[in-house]
Amino acid sequence: MRVSGLIRLLALAFALVATWIFLRTSDSFSTRTIRLPRWMADMAPKDIEIKKTKCGLSKPCPFNYFAFRICSGAANVVGPSMCFENQIIMSPVKNNVGRGLNIALVNGTTGKVLRKNSFDMYSGDAKLLVNFLKEIPRDTLVLVASYDDPGTKMNDDIRKLFSNLGSSYVKQLGFRDSWVFLGARDLKNKSPFEQFLKSNPETNKYDGWPELLELEGCVPRKVF
Ligand SMILES: *[C@@H]1O[C@H](CO)[C@@H](O)[C@H](O)[C@H]1NC(C)=O
Repeated sequence: MRVSGLIRLLALAFALVATWIFLRTSDSFSTRTIRLPRWMADMAPKDIEIKKTKCGLSKPCPFNYFAFRICSGAANVVGPSMCFENQIIMSPVKNNVGRGLNIALVNGTTGKVLRKNSFDMYSGDAKLLVNFLKEIPRDTLVLVASYDDPGTKMNDDIRKLFSNLGSSYVKQLGFRDSWVFLGARDLKNKSPFEQFLKSNPETNKYDGWPELLELEGCVPRKVF
């Protein structure tokens, strides 16, 4: 073999090894572990690890808790979104949200999404929502986000059904209010996961609508 051939072979081998090292390094970066050089690692007690929390929560949820984040819509412009266990279940990008009330049902044991639906509360049929809420199975978590107007078709039946899921504010929910809520069927107490803003021309952030609301937290898994 000629010398130039040998050099080419060596160059190829070097390139392969370099690529392999690069891929390994970038792989460890994608799992978000930053390895310090040895001389720095001697000073630092351990590898610095940056872990992103589920749904971007400010701190991770304890064992046997589900992470969630619910955002209401912004005025009648940007639709609401819901994240559950790091999965976006409803959002404008998924194109499965609508004006009114957006509701997702999740199995409280497995965290599996059972149903999701949006209900037009301005010109829709309130009976559809009544039936939906009456058919919620046992041990189910209920995630709710308002968009534009959740109030016009609101009635006493619907208020009662949401109150039974643990809502405190649905009693006063009206035209163009902002509302985010996580409740559950057969909840004994009021849910701690709820935010509400009344539409008020004096304080509304947008022209005709209050500010959007964001609710995040850890909800205990139902364990048997
Ligand atoms: C929720 O999950 C549990 C455990 O797999 C199952 O027994 C139960 O039937 C599920 N509930 C619904 C409403 O799907």
